[in-house]
Amino acid sequence: MLQTAFTELVGCSVPIQLAPMGGAGSPELAASVIQAGGMGMFATALVPVPAVERLVAAVAARTDGPLGVNVLMPFYDDALIEAVASRVRLVDFYHGAPRAEAVARVHGAGALAGWQVGAVDEARAAVDAGCDVVVVRGIEGGGRMWGDRSLWPLLDEVLDAVDVPVVAAGGIGTGRGLAAALAAGASAVRMGTRFIATAESAAHDVWKQAVIEAQPSDTVMTDAFSVLWPNGPEPHRVLRRAVEAAERTPSDVVAELRVGDHVMPLPRFAAVPPSVHVSGEVEATALYAGESVFAVRGTERAGDIVRAVAQDAEHRLRSASTTLA
Ligand SMILES: Cc1cc2nc3c(=O)[nH]c(=O)nc-3n(C[C@H](O)[C@H](O)[C@H](O)COP(=O)(O)O)c2cc1C
Repeated sequence: MLQTAFTELVGCSVPIQLAPMGGAGSPELAASVIQAGGMGMFATALVPVPAVERLVAAVAARTDGPLGVNVLMPFYDDALIEAVASRVRLVDFYHGAPRAEAVARVHGAGALAGWQVGAVDEARAAVDAGCDVVVVRGIEGGGRMWGDRSLWPLLDEVLDAVDVPVVAAGGIGTGRGLAAALAAGASAVRMGTRFIATAESAAHDVWKQAVIEAQPSDTVMTDAFSVLWPNGPEPHRVLRRAVEAAERTPSDVVAELRVGDHVMPLPRFAAVPPSVHVSGEVEATALYAGESVFAVRGTERAGDIVRAVAQDAEHRLRSASTTLA
């Protein structure tokens, strides 16, 4: 019932996009969101191209609904676009100035192109570069940050500045948030934090439990977890307890990440969030989370969240229009 320019463009039935999330993303999570009517996404930073291809294939084996991949510009690689753009509906970029040749490469492979932005000029530049969709991301959100604006005033400005479908991201995890974004003129929301503790998420149990227990005031903007981050110290929103645990520990290497037969040591303050493949002092790793932690109070199934948020938003929008009449 919540048909928008975004749902029509990408071919989903609910205007909810799973955020691409390092550490928490999994084929099961993406497929579950897609099967409930939303759009699935994968993060690709630090994931080798063949592994991204396997993730895309694993989702395709479960559902033929819309899946996208995200590229963080510090990790941009033409080879990844060549390998996967023809097999996904959308390639989405973040954390760097919009680049027309990257967008053209995505379009050449037959996919839609999107840019997640943190400023109005960046949104205009994304559209000038040829993007089909713009994601407006506020500092309330979890994970690495590009821009320093709160969501709602930035969304308001961007909606006046561009004429492509706009997705709102950052601190949205409920039907109220979705209803507010749609009422403002956004075509969808992107939710990340709300899905970290889901049954299908690949997040480590320590991270899931910490998100379940957290209040918005337990999250903090910091540049602390920037080891292994290509640009050096840059802001991100993370649980404060992770910063404190990393400050407390005497270890230079706090954990290790297993990828197949390969074991990668994770130094103190590494930018890598803990998936189930991480072991060690997990509480001292990058426990990314946004202010929408207030909506996470237990382990739920991702598809149930999508359905409940959409239903609640629809109910609220109907009540609001009845009030007007
Ligand atoms: C754990 C985590 C990892 C993330 N990784 C990425 C990423 O790799 N690429 C990206 O563009 N955004 C990433 N984001 C940001 C999301 O795209 C989105 O803007 C954010 O999750 C929205 O705010 P919310 O967490 O309050 O829902 C990440 C967010 C989280 C919480």
